[in-house]
Amino acid sequence: MNHQTAEKPWLNSETPIAQRVELLLNAMGPEEKIGQMWQVAGDLKDRDQLIKDGKIGSILNLGFEHITEAQKIAVYQTRLGIPLIIGRDVIHGFRTIFPIPLGQAATFNPDLVRQGSRVAAREASSQGIHWTFAPMVDICRDPRWGRIAESYGEDPYLASVLGAASVAGFQGEDPRAADSIAACAKHFAGYGAAEGGRDYNTTLIPESELRNVYLPPFKACLDAGCLTFMSGFNDLNGVPATGHRFLLTDILRTEWGFPGCVVSDWASVEEMINHGFAADTQAAASLALQAGVDMEMASATYHHHLPKLLQDHPTLSEKIDQAVRHVLHLKFSLGLFEDPFSWEKVTDSLLCSSHLQLAKQAATESCVLLKNEGVLPLQPSPGTSLAVVGPLADAPAEQIGCWVFDGLSQDAITPLRALQQTFGDSCQINYAPGLETSRSTDTRGFTRAIQAAENSDLVLCFLGEEAILSGEAHSRAFLNPPGAQEELLAALAETGKPIVLIIMAGRPLLLSKVLPHCQTLLYAWHPGTMGGPAIVDLLLGRFSPSGKLPVSFPSTEGQIPVYYNKRNTGRPPRDVQRGIPEGTPLDPVDFCANYIDSEHLPLFPFGFGLSYSSFELGQPVLESQTIHCEDQLKVCIQISNTGEFAATEVVQLYLRDLAASLTRPVRELKGFQRVTLQPGESRAVTFALPARQLAFYDGSGNHLLEPGEFDLWVSSDSKSGQPVRFRLVQ
Ligand code: GLC
Repeated sequence: MNHQTAEKPWLNSETPIAQRVELLLNAMGPEEKIGQMWQVAGDLKDRDQLIKDGKIGSILNLGFEHITEAQKIAVYQTRLGIPLIIGRDVIHGFRTIFPIPLGQAATFNPDLVRQGSRVAAREASSQGIHWTFAPMVDICRDPRWGRIAESYGEDPYLASVLGAASVAGFQGEDPRAADSIAACAKHFAGYGAAEGGRDYNTTLIPESELRNVYLPPFKACLDAGCLTFMSGFNDLNGVPATGHRFLLTDILRTEWGFPGCVVSDWASVEEMINHGFAADTQAAASLALQAGVDMEMASATYHHHLPKLLQDHPTLSEKIDQAVRHVLHLKFSLGLFEDPFSWEKVTDSLLCSSHLQLAKQAATESCVLLKNEGVLPLQPSPGTSLAVVGPLADAPAEQIGCWVFDGLSQDAITPLRALQQTFGDSCQINYAPGLETSRSTDTRGFTRAIQAAENSDLVLCFLGEEAILSGEAHSRAFLNPPGAQEELLAALAETGKPIVLIIMAGRPLLLSKVLPHCQTLLYAWHPGTMGGPAIVDLLLGRFSPSGKLPVSFPSTEGQIPVYYNKRNTGRPPRDVQRGIPEGTPLDPVDFCANYIDSEHLPLFPFGFGLSYSSFELGQPVLESQTIHCEDQLKVCIQISNTGEFAATEVVQLYLRDLAASLTRPVRELKGFQRVTLQPGESRAVTFALPARQLAFYDGSGNHLLEPGEFDLWVSSDSKSGQPVRFRLVQ
């Protein structure tokens, strides 16, 4: 053992992490312990002095040019030399920007999501980042909420599979590797249920719904080895998530045995005063500590109040020691003590060709074909003229989407640029944005756009949302394409030219008005750095679209929340709505869960997405109609590519529990497989599902597996297919 480890035995990397944590903890004084519990913003005044005084354990959003200096102070100028952990929001790429998470969810491709997070980890770790605040696995059923862009959508199973994949990508095979970074499952929990879709708003979620819908993706991240969790801003059933002992201790620690570190969301500890839950900053510090927050982000209540609270209440030392254990466990797990300057070992791979290629693949697979009346794929002969119009055709900063800290818009290749690069002089490209931005109502540009259409054989129209219209604190009450975009499209449709509409947005938009004015509709979300080349590959048929909707698309705002895994009610709505009869007010109308003035069904259902080819799914064949609780359910289905293109179908497995001690959803996604087939090719697809996956939580936290009858679908979306029935028996 060398001199260093003799004095500092915790530095011996052969010693198990739990022992190293105890060795170091026992060497720390109270102030040093409390110092580890504070994560400060990079621009904090007196930052370096506070590091030297051992008062800071972590910094977020510190510029790379300052990271080495800050780490040298922590390691060489403090008594114990505990390294800082540097955090940053690396949400959908660092410098190479991938589609927004909602777009990545549309790929239904966990391995692609994992690879994307791996690329982000490689790029971020080379720039001094040890910890990202991702994946965000909040379930969201309300497209008004700006952060739906950052989510994996409305389904717990899909969000669980993709969240776990993202954790694996960020943390790699070994979190101690120099190019691995700690993942963070956020925002624990229920944040996506914000009333009215307004960010930071109240959430009221019954325990059964919390456990059956909102918690599973977090448990999946924990099971994938996620090293950190982040507590949410939201008030959950009257208790702010950041002061929620039931969430942060009873569930996360006692039930789930989470060994990692819980960080509060930005100033959410201090915000418990605004919530009306803490009387002052001292109370906020005490409530967060007692609930189970190990590290306070951005606000300074721990820094200011824990020393005195500890003096006045010495029993708090147990809580403080436990919090510091979690912080040290994180730092040892990342190998920070072995190599506090790990970024020096990671080759700078920013924007390298393999990263860009993967980002392009992710963008290609994220696009969802919602309508195609034979216009795509394009087979332009030389001399064809294309009108390229709309405010999103050449808007690099918009196409990379929200939550981009280190991606640069100048790196992004827009659809216009990709078309120009592809066609050169072989096709005439007539570009006219028509509107300056997605929100513009200045229609003076319409004339040129209409002329471009009239002078062309086909119109490629790019509409949608600027990046700023989604993301944190950017909720919208009206979901139609903003500005005068609908008017622009209607004017273009007047020319009679075929229109391919491509929408880039951070959420589902209302499409009822644009749908009639286009022959083809491709939904590209915010597709990232390589969005342009990906869209052009799809337009030209180099790949067939394979994306599927991770979230329902409402017909109107009035429907919201609208989601596929709803309950049936005692009077389920009819799919075909009757009008309101004239005559006496007593005329019978349908006494069921319909609207009398609007559609109740979404415009496009969860799991929906077209392809250039066509697929035929046979009837699901069950290995047995009776499944024992400890057995597996096995089902097989034949799928054929009956079209003319090689294409990929996402085959989806849904179940319904027909009678249970709690009403259960009319369908629940329990599995999916991406199947790529050549034209004319057929394949048998098999799902094997442990019967325990049929269990659900009741309102008291009991996990129930109840015998009875179930319906099962294997289909291409959450609405299609014919069910087969089976019985679950004890
Ligand atoms: C923000 C977000 C959170 C993010 C954190 C650090 O307010 O809610 O998702 O990771 O602060 O930027």
